[in-house]
Amino acid sequence: MTKSKTTLSKLLAEAKFSQECEELMSSLPKDRSFFAEYLYQYQGFWYPPNILEGVLYSQKHFQAKDSDIILVSSPKSGTTWLKALVFALIHRHEFLTPLESHPLLDNNPHSLVPFIEGFQFHTQDTSPKIFSTHIPLRSLPASIKDSSCKVVYCCRNPKDAFVSIWHFLKSLMLKEMVGCTIEEMVSGFCRGSSVYGPFWDHALEYWKESQENPDKVLFVMYEEMREQPRDWVMRIAEFLGCSFTEEEIENGVLDSIIKLCSLENLSKLEVNEKGKLVNGMETKAFFRKGEIGGWSDTLTPLLAEEIDKTTEQKLFGSGFRFFC
Ligand code: A3P
Repeated sequence: MTKSKTTLSKLLAEAKFSQECEELMSSLPKDRSFFAEYLYQYQGFWYPPNILEGVLYSQKHFQAKDSDIILVSSPKSGTTWLKALVFALIHRHEFLTPLESHPLLDNNPHSLVPFIEGFQFHTQDTSPKIFSTHIPLRSLPASIKDSSCKVVYCCRNPKDAFVSIWHFLKSLMLKEMVGCTIEEMVSGFCRGSSVYGPFWDHALEYWKESQENPDKVLFVMYEEMREQPRDWVMRIAEFLGCSFTEEEIENGVLDSIIKLCSLENLSKLEVNEKGKLVNGMETKAFFRKGEIGGWSDTLTPLLAEEIDKTTEQKLFGSGFRFFC
């Protein structure tokens, strides 16, 4: 086991929690987990203790401004890519020319766009501020709902998201993963007991909000962005009030952003091949294949069917469909 992998495990194992969080945890439903010893169910969604502490802290202290941009996703649904794209498009006038000094070339997207539940939301000094979160709609800090800040939600099909989680957790080599079978993990995922799960409820709540409040929440599908990045990056820019001009498009600004933020480009940068985040996670863990339908390499037909059945039950009558 490498040093960085032990560091993250150690951090999780040795984390100390506030009295408020300890008291709350003792009153919450809990379930065995492959990420931490237990996940706790808070406001209908499941969290390991360190993340629960971050959710409570951000609910109390995060103050959104009208100009803020909040990027939301379920884990492994395209968060890293969305952070890179939105950072690049918002700061395109400062950093694209010359490209050689672009912050994304020396910083992992997670270092440029902090998670609000990661206790790092006081650190940004640019405007507009861009934050990210995996917090479900119902548990967002009140100021996000009450202010005019914009929310972009990135959703991915559950089988690819699950497989991405599986490979990500294996790459972290957490002690809780030892001996864990993929069957057990699919079963937990379908029960809703995964980090920030139930996965389906998470997407559905944001999708409904995007239908009812389209100026507040833009709902984006990872797969559609993969297939038509130009259209989607333009839509995101329009939603955020910074549309590309025809001149910018003719001059290749849009294409430069897409190329800069591509999986192929970002994954080969030294900072993403060899770097570590402040929590000790290796940055390379965030880049793998990025395929649509890549789940078929990892899931047996039976496991895929288990996830499909859950999807069918969860979405029944909602009018919402995942990409595939
Ligand atoms: P796979 O594991 O299927 O390859 P997140 O950023 O939410 O943690 O999601 C990680 C998933 O997004 C991984 O999927 C990863 O390969 C993919 N990904 C990371 N950066 C990307 C990029 N720039 N473009 C497209 N996909 C990307």
